[in-house]
Amino acid sequence: MDTKTDPRVAELMEFVSIPSVSAQSAHAGDMRRCAEWLVRKMESIGLAARLEETAGNPVVVGKSPRDPAKKTVLIYGHYDVQPPEPLELWTSPPFQPEIREGRIYGRGASDNKGQIFAHILGVGEALAEGPLPVNVVFLVEGEEEVGSTHLAGFLDKNRGELACDFIAISDTGMAAEGHPTLSYALRGIAAMEVRVFGPAQDLHSGIYGGAVANPATAAARLVASLHDKSGRVAIEGFYGDVEEMADWERQAAAESPHSEAAIARQAGVSELAGEAGYSAVERIGARPTAEINGIGGGYQGEGTKTVLPAQAFFKVTFRLVANQHPENILQLARRHFERHKPPGVRLEILDGHGGEPFLLDPHSPPGLAAQRALEKVFGKKPALMREGGSIPILADFEKILGRPALLLALASPDCRAHAPDENFPVENFLAGIRLNKALLHELAK
Ligand code: BES
Ligand code: ZN
Repeated sequence: MDTKTDPRVAELMEFVSIPSVSAQSAHAGDMRRCAEWLVRKMESIGLAARLEETAGNPVVVGKSPRDPAKKTVLIYGHYDVQPPEPLELWTSPPFQPEIREGRIYGRGASDNKGQIFAHILGVGEALAEGPLPVNVVFLVEGEEEVGSTHLAGFLDKNRGELACDFIAISDTGMAAEGHPTLSYALRGIAAMEVRVFGPAQDLHSGIYGGAVANPATAAARLVASLHDKSGRVAIEGFYGDVEEMADWERQAAAESPHSEAAIARQAGVSELAGEAGYSAVERIGARPTAEINGIGGGYQGEGTKTVLPAQAFFKVTFRLVANQHPENILQLARRHFERHKPPGVRLEILDGHGGEPFLLDPHSPPGLAAQRALEKVFGKKPALMREGGSIPILADFEKILGRPALLLALASPDCRAHAPDENFPVENFLAGIRLNKALLHELAK
């Protein structure tokens, strides 16, 4: 079938056209509209679906007819998307999806609407063919991109209804185009903002410069103190809890189709950088980092202004790997900044959101079932990959529902998630529908 006339693609485009941006309060109505759209879609394929209120955006739950003799698979995803800005960098508007060269372009196309919708359609097609080999429960939330604030409470309150044998998620990227990938680890995260205060107001940099500490310089020194010359994070104790990679993992990383050249090309850099002693694939998936997300202070306008600014700030997120904990890392970072604070300035340190890292043994029985389903659909042995991004709710799934998640990647390595021209290949979408059906069969065994 021509992809442009395939009704499944048209439906996905309708889903993507709803601007469900969780970070922006102006879109609160769109969040609800999007959740309602999903409920109707789930009902139309034969699921018992409903919208559940939380203190934040609603959660959508959809269930297949329950057969107590069968195992239950919970499929998780999110209908919220990242802000589309900067708008001028999109080739076509973010919420008017368009197909170009076999890819659907639009905010949320891959993260996560295309991926979760493939699972929904997979279940719909399977239901049309007869009873499912397993019971299915969909859980689709609207706050993943803003830290899943209300989902743990929802899991806790509904743990009976959400009880399951397996959790399946497609919200990660493939190691290479068309290469099946089981993501067996995700990094955790810990966010912090540091504000640096100096004089009571902006000063003339000639009249006071040299005698009064400059907060922008102090902020830059603090930022620079985060890494040593070999690219390691220089916070005392930062690596204390890090679980080193097993030999088979280093081997898998070395054989990964996610090549250094591809990473550099996709990132648009001529040279990669990072912690000495590890490959780029290892640095991204299996090593913790400190990343400055924003830095500011002082005059930002046209021309020059001889000012000694009163304040400066920076925002930092730490990505964490197995055995590190966000609260502990934030404490170590706070102590580091207080110790490295240059004289003459005052710091205000604000802790942000946090999420635990995730690690699954891909050779466990559920991991092997996921690998078989991937191989069946893509005709190749799946790559086993540790991913750099985070899905903080995974730790709560383990804690509250007692089940680890199987992460079956469908996004393309250059899907441009969170960036302008986010896209999802139609081919991956259709493969995702087949993958869902294969997975339900493998998990039933
Ligand atoms: N889909 C991503 C997570 C992801 C991306 C995992 C790439 C693996 C590879 C998810 O939507 C996301 O962006 N998560 C945020 C979480 C944060 C807001 C707490 C992230 O990783 O920055
Ligand atoms: Zn995302």
